[in-house]
Amino acid sequence: MGLALILFSFALITHLSPTYGYDPLDPNGNITIKWDVMQVNDDTQDVRLSIFNYQLFRHVEPPGWRLSWTWPGDEVIMNMLGAEATEQGDCSLFRATNQLPHCCDKKPVIIDLLPGAPFTKQVANCCKGGVLPSFTQGPDTFGAAFQMSIGTASAPFSSANFSAPGNFSLGLRGYSCGDPFEVPPSKFIEDKGRRRTQALATYNVTCSYSQFEASPAPTCCVSLSAFYNDTIVPCPQCSCGCQGQTGSNCVKSGDSPSILQLPNEAPQPVVQCTQHMCPIRVHWHVKESYREYWRVKITVTNFNYAKNYSQWNLVVLHPNIQNVTQVFSFNYKPLHLYGNINDTGMFYGIQYYNDILLQSGDNGNVQTEILFHKDSGIFTFREGWAFPRKISFNGDQCVMPPPDHYPRLPNSGHFGAPARSGLIFSSLFLLAVLF
Ligand SMILES: *[C@@H]1O[C@H](CO)[C@@H](O)[C@H](O)[C@H]1NC(C)=O
Ligand SMILES: *[C@@H]1O[C@H](CO)[C@@H](O)[C@H](O)[C@H]1NC(C)=O
Ligand SMILES: *[C@@H]1O[C@H](CO)[C@@H](O)[C@H](O)[C@H]1NC(C)=O
Ligand SMILES: *[C@@H]1O[C@H](CO)[C@@H](O)[C@H](O)[C@H]1NC(C)=O
Ligand SMILES: *[C@@H]1O[C@H](CO)[C@@H](O)[C@H](O)[C@H]1NC(C)=O
Ligand SMILES: *[C@@H]1O[C@H](CO)[C@@H](O)[C@H](O)[C@H]1NC(C)=O
Ligand SMILES: *[C@@H]1O[C@H](CO)[C@@H](O)[C@H](O)[C@H]1NC(C)=O
Ligand SMILES: *[C@@H]1O[C@H](CO)[C@@H](O)[C@H](O)[C@H]1NC(C)=O
Repeated sequence: MGLALILFSFALITHLSPTYGYDPLDPNGNITIKWDVMQVNDDTQDVRLSIFNYQLFRHVEPPGWRLSWTWPGDEVIMNMLGAEATEQGDCSLFRATNQLPHCCDKKPVIIDLLPGAPFTKQVANCCKGGVLPSFTQGPDTFGAAFQMSIGTASAPFSSANFSAPGNFSLGLRGYSCGDPFEVPPSKFIEDKGRRRTQALATYNVTCSYSQFEASPAPTCCVSLSAFYNDTIVPCPQCSCGCQGQTGSNCVKSGDSPSILQLPNEAPQPVVQCTQHMCPIRVHWHVKESYREYWRVKITVTNFNYAKNYSQWNLVVLHPNIQNVTQVFSFNYKPLHLYGNINDTGMFYGIQYYNDILLQSGDNGNVQTEILFHKDSGIFTFREGWAFPRKISFNGDQCVMPPPDHYPRLPNSGHFGAPARSGLIFSSLFLLAVLF
């Protein structure tokens, strides 16, 4: 029964995981670009652009977004506050993936200013170096804005025609943006609430993420153990790559890695040599059982020498999640993704304490213990029930060991149809172990 349940949930998960642009753990997740036409002058138009990271757990990390679009006509940017337009822009990212071969034609590329930008170049909510936390972990900082004034060489603007540009891109691996659509004009409150303004026209562009497009290879794996069995089930061999494979270099434990950090590029992982070759391993240990509660210890280990993961997070799918009673040294937030099904929760670090998962080494791990209330209707240690159905780290799904390798209760017989005597024996054993 338990196995059937696990297989069923795996089937469900697989079924819910189409390859492109949809994450079953964050079904509404998106980054929205909002284009507000604020004012039309004789020959220019003032536009305010905002970017909101409406994802539950995926951040936009350094080097940050590089926003681009194509103009419908011969528009040009006259000036800009809170961000800057780079000349033509760097198209190598797109050339490499062959996504937008003509990206450099008529296409401005905008980069964010750094937080210390001169006061005269700032606007409200600007200048974040392109970095946007998810709205769960950065409820006050998940959005950014800048302003620009647009002119055209030929036809003048009038308040009757706003032609929104197209082909928006965030310049971030794995994201693709849809077409702009006109929405009811935004309302703004300015001057600390003293003045209300309204945009003349507003367009929204929705961008979504695909893990497969961002990185076809996984970046995280899960290992398992339990108090009732000595076996530690490791991450599956070659979860994220294989040692010795071309293009997958690694650093032997004890050697000092050489890290080449190029400016304006995300650091390439430099991983410790392991049989799984993942930058991140999540270990789930079923630690103890009490009469009404059971306890799990989770350890997240960083095997990447090139990166400190700030604002890291874990999303866990487990049928007992709704009965989480206490979480030690991590923040916890239940996620209600599908109406009444509450089997998913998010764990993340406590600010200034363990919200940065340090680079590989002695301090490169974070740990928590979680106390669950046993829900008598569904709770069991049999057949792997106590292990998570799914885990993701920073929004990327982790590779799990196959269910038939999970640590097993001693003498609980094989999966499928345990003999009645076996069942009784293991129930007695369970009673002995648990109480
Ligand atoms: C984008 O995310 C927001 C916040 O979750 C949601 O309200 C909105 O419907 C999403 N947009 C789309 C097009 O899914
Ligand atoms: C805006 O509309 C005016 C009048 O209809 C037209 O002359 C002009 O070419 C249009 N401008 C743009 C930028 O499309
Ligand atoms: C998007 O780019 C394509 C190819 O460069 C171009 O043909 C098309 O007109 C652009 N769309 C918009 C709305 O600018
Ligand atoms: C457009 O985007 C803004 C900002 O994300 C949001 O508040 C608004 O609801 C969106 N409008 C529609 C119709 O989706
Ligand atoms: C990670 O943080 C530590 C401590 O702040 C710092 O010494 C180290 O250089 C950082 N590593 C990377 C790769 O940024
Ligand atoms: C899940 O959570 C929602 C919101 O807290 C609640 O209304 C619902 O009853 C819960 N469902 C179950 C099965 O516990
Ligand atoms: C577990 O959570 C569910 C839903 O919130 C609740 O109905 C049930 O009583 C809880 N069980 C225990 C043992 O706390
Ligand atoms: C512990 O679990 C492993 C993996 O399922 C299994 O092979 C082994 O027999 C179990 N050990 C005991 C003592 O039951």
